[in-house]
Amino acid sequence: MGRRVAGLNLPDRPRRLRTSPVMRRMVAETSVAPRQLILPAFVAEGLTEPRPISSMPGVDQHSLDSIRKVAASAAEAGIAGIMLFGVPLPEKKDATGSQALATDGILTRAIEAVRGEVGDDLLVMSDVCLDEFTDHGHCGVLTADGLVDNDATVELYAQMSVLHAQAGAHVVGPSGMMDGQIGEIRSALDAAGQLDTVILAYAAKYSSSYYGPFREAVSSTLQGDRKTYQQDLGNVREALREVRLDLEQGADIVMIKPALSYLDVIRQVADAVDVPVAAYNISGEYAMVEASAERGWIDRDAAITETLTSIRRAGADIILSYWALEYANRKELQR
Ligand code: PBG
Repeated sequence: MGRRVAGLNLPDRPRRLRTSPVMRRMVAETSVAPRQLILPAFVAEGLTEPRPISSMPGVDQHSLDSIRKVAASAAEAGIAGIMLFGVPLPEKKDATGSQALATDGILTRAIEAVRGEVGDDLLVMSDVCLDEFTDHGHCGVLTADGLVDNDATVELYAQMSVLHAQAGAHVVGPSGMMDGQIGEIRSALDAAGQLDTVILAYAAKYSSSYYGPFREAVSSTLQGDRKTYQQDLGNVREALREVRLDLEQGADIVMIKPALSYLDVIRQVADAVDVPVAAYNISGEYAMVEASAERGWIDRDAAITETLTSIRRAGADIILSYWALEYANRKELQR
């Protein structure tokens, strides 16, 4: 019979399950596997070699050649996919973002190049949006009054999605937050015979200060903000409504973005839907950790693991992260 020699008479001592690394690993409730990660990547027209993005240390704008190599490494590392963003030459940007629909446009060519490289070993995904292509930097075309024209924009997104699917995208990711975009994209894909193209809907996308570094990554010219189409940061019922509408219109996967300031939204969506839930660990979330690690203010490796784990714990099945490839390649980050 055990007899207490000293201390408290406690039947429950949770610390027993934290006594060693193996013990902690055994009882860990949440893990992050490379197969659940997607690497967002930028391809810029006119580059012959990668160009560093200063606000995102470690992330580059790629050439068509270098993006092929990144995609091959991503397939090798066993991550799920690569989400491609195209950056046209500045002089090719115009009011309607016409390069987005050009068959020789940079994003179309990047999709073809990457799919040619990886086949079905990596999921090729594309951002369906106009902000990288318009000279005003908005995610859609404008009315005479300078407002974003919802219905005209949705029509362009539908054409863009078909172009991407034909170029080899397995998954299209409409990120413009226009009403009815998923339904129109689904009909256009169906009409083009692209029945297996997955729509990863940026269903709940908030107007956020954390997109800052991305604007440099895509050489954005935006003045002002996106508050008439992206969601207000205090709302969660509205996110559930956006998710419901996207599912009614044919979304296969729903995404919440950004991730860290919206973990409660991820949880509520994950509890409400019966489809996979994705979250985008965005540029500003990346830059915050990189910048403080650079100053020696934070343990970079531990912060990366903690960031990704918290997003999974909140309920995301899939995470887009600029650390995807590094995480998959470095065992010491994994859990
Ligand atoms: C729109 C788009 C944006 C991001 C992904 N798709 C920018 C925006 O909405 O302003 C942001 C991604 C990031 O910040 O990492 N094409």
